[in-house]
Amino acid sequence: MCGIVGYIGKRSSQQILVEGLKKLEYRGYDSAGVAVHTGEGLHISKAKGRIRELENKLELQPLEGFAGIGHTRWATHGKPSDENSHPHADQSMKISVVHNGIIENHMQLKEELEQLGYNFLSETDTEVISHLIAHYYQNDLVKAVQKAVSRIKGAFAIAVLSEHEPDKLIAVRWASPLIIGVGEGENFIGSDIPAILEHTRDVYILSDGEMAVLTRDKVELMTLEGNFIAKQLLRIDWDVMRAEKDGYDHFMQKEIAEQPRAYRDTMLGRIDKETKGVVLPELNMTLEDIHQIQQIQMVACGTAYHAALVGKAVIERMTRIPVEIDVASEYRYRQPVIRENTLVIAVSQSGETADTLAAMREAKLCGARVMAVTNVVGSSVAREADDVLYTMAGPEIAVASTKAYTSQLIALYLFAIYVSQSLNTMDAMTRMELLSTMEKLPEQVEGMLEDTRTIQRIAGELADRNHLFFIGRGLDYMVAMEASLKLKEISYIHSEAYAAGELKHGSLALIEDGTPVIAIATQEALLEKTISNIKEVKARGAYVIGVALEGNMEMAKTADEVIYIPRTDALLTSTLSVVPLQLLAYYAALARGNDVDKPRNLAKSVTVE
Ligand code: F6R
Repeated sequence: MCGIVGYIGKRSSQQILVEGLKKLEYRGYDSAGVAVHTGEGLHISKAKGRIRELENKLELQPLEGFAGIGHTRWATHGKPSDENSHPHADQSMKISVVHNGIIENHMQLKEELEQLGYNFLSETDTEVISHLIAHYYQNDLVKAVQKAVSRIKGAFAIAVLSEHEPDKLIAVRWASPLIIGVGEGENFIGSDIPAILEHTRDVYILSDGEMAVLTRDKVELMTLEGNFIAKQLLRIDWDVMRAEKDGYDHFMQKEIAEQPRAYRDTMLGRIDKETKGVVLPELNMTLEDIHQIQQIQMVACGTAYHAALVGKAVIERMTRIPVEIDVASEYRYRQPVIRENTLVIAVSQSGETADTLAAMREAKLCGARVMAVTNVVGSSVAREADDVLYTMAGPEIAVASTKAYTSQLIALYLFAIYVSQSLNTMDAMTRMELLSTMEKLPEQVEGMLEDTRTIQRIAGELADRNHLFFIGRGLDYMVAMEASLKLKEISYIHSEAYAAGELKHGSLALIEDGTPVIAIATQEALLEKTISNIKEVKARGAYVIGVALEGNMEMAKTADEVIYIPRTDALLTSTLSVVPLQLLAYYAALARGNDVDKPRNLAKSVTVE
């Protein structure tokens, strides 16, 4: 996830671009840059770090001109650095491009372009676009962009500025957001409404496969094939604060809603359509390395630990490699037994959590190979690991993790399938079915997010309670732990998660008339047993909210309320069942008047041990 802006008009563009980028900093903040067409051609200024670094550069060397594009980066390909910052340009510095998204086939295109003599200066996937446009340019920028775009696969929103035709900007959208702002004698491009709201409230929202050609006085909209289209101009009446959250009231709510996109981005380019297998070219481990793995140990904290618990279960089931798991802060102190050929997987959204870093350092010291699963390119965890598997959740602002957790699940499923296909521990048909079921998850989450009224009502009923329980078996127990943490951290309602079969060994004593128990039962093979456990708590007066697969009538008969989730493979239910429970925590916190995005006593990144 990155932020894009563009301006063409009668005012100096530099300040408008920089201010726009500041409004988009929530989309990424590891580097920023602008390209401006000055009287002397195309000029680019870019810098690693926050937008302040770019401003410092521009103060020393301002770029004066009436057309420009800008970018704030959240690294996906290539570490944060000046070279990898956008805008990127072709060799002759006549075409500049900013991009948000992932170009799946950039390696093939890069090879092809290198053979044609194009030199690459960065490690980014974006740079192929500027060279491709230059390659196809024959006195018609629009056609060159269309040809270039027809070659790229993946997700992209791009803006192009060229010295060849400096009186226009071109914007293209495919699976990454892009809007066009329409002003008087000036027009704008933005990844999102906040970038341009200060200047205009009239916008076109581009759909996938659409492009816009902007001049000072005109915006032309067309398909990627060049057919002109008419679109309704939208009038935005949000205030700036709301616009930064894309119209949502809180970042957490926005991030919950972004999960379908995060799932898609994390799978993007990693499922080979032809072989129907997982491809993870970013890993340095060879097939031989995978064959040598004797054991896996996983380390993580909090929500990332809960994702790792699911990871452990699926890796073991799919690969038969034994997996141990530790809360990272405990790992070092238990003197872990690290045998030869141990792979340690560190899971961390921020990649900066001190406990996780300390655990992985300990593992490395003892000779383990370390793989990181993280959301932040260039983070400490990513830098110190031997292999990195990135989650593509985009920046997560709310302290309570939602889309990062579910993206970690997706990444760990992909890794488990990848190892199982390398070791031949899963037959090809099962793998193919599992992958196509995974590809349906984003749409299923979208469906679940359409109507949240039942969850809101239940959250309202729970909001004045002080204690509740989550129960589940197998993968459902692991989701119960995450759901319980989510509820605690933002609503401050005390809750505990139990393996459903464990309650009767002591804690059942706490169940009394009206005690809420949230029972997750998506594992059909374990359903009968979980239903028996629900009956045990019901018999003691519990108020039971079931989370079950659509069509589960047994749950409807047993529980007081049921939240249904769509049917999927038993191994994948955790990616769906957690979503209504994230919302339950969100609405319960709202009902209690809490600061949802910044819960008391907590920080987004915990850099102390
Ligand atoms: C809870 C939450 C935390 C983090 C934990 C690890 O919603 O976000 O429990 O998961 O502090 O953080 P990372 O993943 O950045 O290592």
